[in-house]
Amino acid sequence: MAFVNNDFGDVLLHRESVRDFDPSVKIPRAELQQMIAETITAPSACNLQAWHFVVVDDDAGKDKLRSYFMKFNTPQLESCSAMVQIFGDTLAFKSYRDLWNKAYENGQITAEKRDEVLRTFLPLYEKAPKQVLVNDSTVDGTIAATQLMLIARAHGYETNPIGGYDTTKAAAAFGLDPDRYVPVMAIAIGKPAKNGQDEMKSARYPVDQVIEFA
Ligand SMILES: Cc1cc2nc3c(=O)[nH]c(=O)nc-3n(C[C@H](O)[C@H](O)[C@H](O)COP(=O)(O)O)c2cc1C
Repeated sequence: MAFVNNDFGDVLLHRESVRDFDPSVKIPRAELQQMIAETITAPSACNLQAWHFVVVDDDAGKDKLRSYFMKFNTPQLESCSAMVQIFGDTLAFKSYRDLWNKAYENGQITAEKRDEVLRTFLPLYEKAPKQVLVNDSTVDGTIAATQLMLIARAHGYETNPIGGYDTTKAAAAFGLDPDRYVPVMAIAIGKPAKNGQDEMKSARYPVDQVIEFA
């Protein structure tokens, strides 16, 4: 994999939120698509992959974001090269059968294994209360968000995860069914403006305050 930054320690441990990007930087759509393709290698519960990505990289898309973002996130919204609004897909299980059929057709699993997986997991989702579907897809979307932030660094970009927006308006802003798609977070991506990275260093609690061995 030809990453711009292939130093895992640096990618992982030197990530920090950037809120002031260089607005002149354009990320080619092919690269944005590639970053999402690398993002969706992330794990998900039962491999349901209950995530959906809306990638905004132009002013028309930013207008939609402006309609529901909180004011304090304006600098990132206006300066980033792309904003990826991540949703959880509460109806992802509807295509679950196709996924496993394809794996069977590709010779990745036997018909028996496919049937066993579908017998075991599909009813769990088909009968699940809405709140379970919301929680599960939010967890999947959150894992994808983390992976996207690291993948973006591997591509030489910085990010800011954003939850400061009107969650009741996010799906409808993009013509998505709000009953189906639950907003998880948005990820601003770009190159830092000069000094964009230095304005706020975040602190962490000492590890012994957040850990216990049981
Ligand atoms: C779910 C989530 C929502 C966040 N929402 C915002 C936001 O709306 N605006 C913002 O500037 N930063 C937001 N952040 C970034 C956090 O403030 C930041 O990750 C935290 O302070 C740690 O700093 P670091 O990312 O530089 O390590 C969010 C982070 C997460 C994980």
